[in-house]
Amino acid sequence: MPAQGTPSSKGQEIQRTFDRITGYYDLMNRLMTLGRHAAWCREVAAGAEVPPGGSMLDIATGTGVIALAARERYPNSTVHAVDFSERMLAAAAGKPGASAIRWQQADANDLPFGDESFDAVTHGYLLRNVENVEHVLEEQYRVLRPGGRVVMLETCPPRGPLRHPVELGVRVVIPLLGQVVARDRQSYAYLQESTLGFMTPQEVSEILRRVGFSSVAWRKRFLGTHMIISAEKR
Ligand SMILES: C[S@@+](CC[C@H](N)C(=O)[O-])C[C@H]1O[C@@H](n2cnc3c(N)ncnc32)[C@H](O)[C@@H]1O
Repeated sequence: MPAQGTPSSKGQEIQRTFDRITGYYDLMNRLMTLGRHAAWCREVAAGAEVPPGGSMLDIATGTGVIALAARERYPNSTVHAVDFSERMLAAAAGKPGASAIRWQQADANDLPFGDESFDAVTHGYLLRNVENVEHVLEEQYRVLRPGGRVVMLETCPPRGPLRHPVELGVRVVIPLLGQVVARDRQSYAYLQESTLGFMTPQEVSEILRRVGFSSVAWRKRFLGTHMIISAEKR
């Protein structure tokens, strides 16, 4: 199904970046997170608390790790998964268990779903890629039913005594892995910049509250370089 609207020029550039790295995405993710990414995706799926017979939407699903974890955890619910990269969606749809998920190409800025369509919305590493975080969270608020939950995994700029060694590690390790494994230093330099340059959990929480979400909670992972944030629509 075609995406609604056309992404902005920055969006199209990001779309091309993810189209380019699809073949290496899962392996690179495992290496960059020392194998922790899948466990965080299961945590995100668990936090969605989808009721039996309910429905959830995973946005920026990429190769579908959160959507597949949700499908396993909530076998009696409907799982929709969207991304604007066709190649990422194709990789996701080819995985075992994927036929039970409704995959669709869509831009997080303009979700092709009616108001109050879902009991939960999840996403991993979406917000650091978008131009207007508040607008993207408003879209999620719109498609959630009252009482519905949003749960997200994001990178987080490291703070405290470990800040400098961790920053140095991210600056060196990610582009180096990109060069050696994917032979694409440029794409991974973008990932390294967006990892270190993204917001703190307090800043994301502030925007969530402004959009109307309540019960905002967050926890950090992986030496403070990752965070899982959840909130509820009143
Ligand atoms: C780093 S990957 C994360 C994939 C997956 N959520 C995970 O945790 O492995 C980011 C994904 O976000 C998608 N993406 C970025 N901006 C988007 C947007 N505005 N709308 C839809 N997808 C977007 C990219 O195509 C890419 O597949």
